Amino acid sequence: MEVVILPGSGAIGAAVADAVEALLRRKPDSVLGLATGSSPLPVYDELAWRHAGQGLELSSASAFTLDEYVGLPTGHPQSYREVIRREFTNRVDIDPSHVHSPDGGAEDIPAACAAYEEAIGNAGGVDLQLLGVGTDGHLAFNEPTSSLASRTRIKTLTEQTRKDNARFFDDPDDVPGHVITQGLGTIMEARHVVLIATGGQKAQAVHDLVEGPVSAICPASLLQFHPHATILIDEAAASGLKLAEYYRYTYEHKPRWQQL
Ligand code: GLP
Repeated sequence: MEVVILPGSGAIGAAVADAVEALLRRKPDSVLGLATGSSPLPVYDELAWRHAGQGLELSSASAFTLDEYVGLPTGHPQSYREVIRREFTNRVDIDPSHVHSPDGGAEDIPAACAAYEEAIGNAGGVDLQLLGVGTDGHLAFNEPTSSLASRTRIKTLTEQTRKDNARFFDDPDDVPGHVITQGLGTIMEARHVVLIATGGQKAQAVHDLVEGPVSAICPASLLQFHPHATILIDEAAASGLKLAEYYRYTYEHKPRWQQL
């Protein structure tokens, strides 16, 4: 696990965009794993800017989102399908038919979950998965005590997550109680996982996921088992880390040829 402490979300957005750009130049038909929430927004802004001004192309790429609310009407502005369109995919040249998300309106939810797993597999798996982390350590919508081997399935949100996400809805009661999320086992199959966390409200979750024991009580701690996990955080999110100085030293002295 590589922990990179940067001064703020602008620097984090640029560093992650560099990794995505390097991947796309090496493999134009890359499969990107997209996350919602506020943490990845600087990455999307930076990629949109590079697309508009520097010729970065995503025309051959495809994408899978991590999760979706169950039961929001099609086209609801807070459905993750819409959020990802608005915040990212509509701003670049990725083919809209190559952007996939779990079907939160499906009649048969287990079948929709199985189909989503199959679609990821058929695409060859995710090359680079963007991730945020919940204040309770959740990854995608895998709440504490999720099975560490879980696949895409329906989950019930904790009260904390519903409160955290209420800021996006007109009425806090409108936050759905159920979601479809890629499982922790699904996420672990991505070839590179890149988690972004900023702000002091994430300091405890960051400590637990980087330096705590691997445990289902902090689902993101499972990333300690991933062979290529990069954790990018700002100073506030890093404030609970015991080995912060070591992480800073390591990043500063990283060989130039070694990318994220
Ligand atoms: C939601 C999403 C997660 C995201 C989390 C944190 O619960 N399902 O994928 O990581 O929010 O969001 P933010 O980045 O806004 O703090």
